[in-house]
Amino acid sequence: MITLVGKNIEQAADLLQKGELCGIPTETVYGLAGNALDSEVVAQIFEVKGRPVFDPLIVHIGRASDLLLFSEELSDAAKMLATSFWPGPLSLIVKRNAIIPDLVTSGLDTVAIRMPKHPISLELLQKLPFPLAAPSANPFGYISPTSAAHVVDQLNGKISYVLDGGPSSIGIESTIVDCSSDKPCILRLGGLSIEAIEKVIGPIDVMTHSSSQPAAPGMLSNHYSPRKPMILGKIPELIEEHKALKVGVLSFTQAYENFTNKVLSKSGDLHEAARNLFGFMRLLDESDCDLIIAESVPDRGLGKAINDRLNRASSPY
Ligand code: TXA
Ligand code: MG
Repeated sequence: MITLVGKNIEQAADLLQKGELCGIPTETVYGLAGNALDSEVVAQIFEVKGRPVFDPLIVHIGRASDLLLFSEELSDAAKMLATSFWPGPLSLIVKRNAIIPDLVTSGLDTVAIRMPKHPISLELLQKLPFPLAAPSANPFGYISPTSAAHVVDQLNGKISYVLDGGPSSIGIESTIVDCSSDKPCILRLGGLSIEAIEKVIGPIDVMTHSSSQPAAPGMLSNHYSPRKPMILGKIPELIEEHKALKVGVLSFTQAYENFTNKVLSKSGDLHEAARNLFGFMRLLDESDCDLIIAESVPDRGLGKAINDRLNRASSPY
């Protein structure tokens, strides 16, 4: 199979209606999408991504009101968050109904639902008579894709089409909020800040495990990882410590001119840093360095989600 890249929404819709998978753009990261209501298609998503079936998928919808089609007993928090932030970088975990296949939710009685804010994916979703199940379009465990080229680099030959919507404007996955019980809580930090969520529903707990799947604690800690070892700390000290190696440096604002270096945001803008994060990790991973050295960013707003990804990507070394 040859993987084509293009901007043809009709073509993507046709393929998806035939039960094929497509790469789709969203404002967070690119998704590997297929008909969420067809178990065979959903099984193919797990297979192409190499994802264990205990790790459930997010269902993407094109109209906020479609939430009602797939959920039961919506809490006030779920309604308020959907009204305030959809379309946008927020996935809501809600009690699901029987229309959603078991495979999508890994047998859980809840489902993750999101309405993305990207004109192309919204138009596509609104054309289709079904929602799209879509994990990030990277092989399981690797860095998430933020451009059509990233998707092709890794899934070439495994899917027939990638819909190109340009670089993802947020660059980091959606924030996941569990609204399936009385007390909402954040399961994954992401493109929507805690501060923004708290303005709408008040103080909220953050319970990010190594996985947002409580049934499998500890299993997915090494996520979003480059293939090269990556360590996190104070860059000048790490450079000194690893003098014998060829290092690549992923810094927040400061340039390190004597090294292969990517600066997330020269002006210290966390939105710009989030947008650059995964693409820069990939570039350093593809460079000739032996070791990637990175530093945390300020722990506020999107910075919390960026630090979460940096922590998961860095391995003990
Ligand atoms: O920004 C995003 O959310 C992207 C774009 C493509 O929409 N999608 C994405 O999907 O990041 P994925 O599959 O890479 O991550 C989905 C996460 C997984 O960690 C999964 O465990 C969690 O959502 N999840 C899905 N359904 C869940 C449920 N019912 N309960 C708890 N966690 C759930
Ligand atoms: Mg992912």
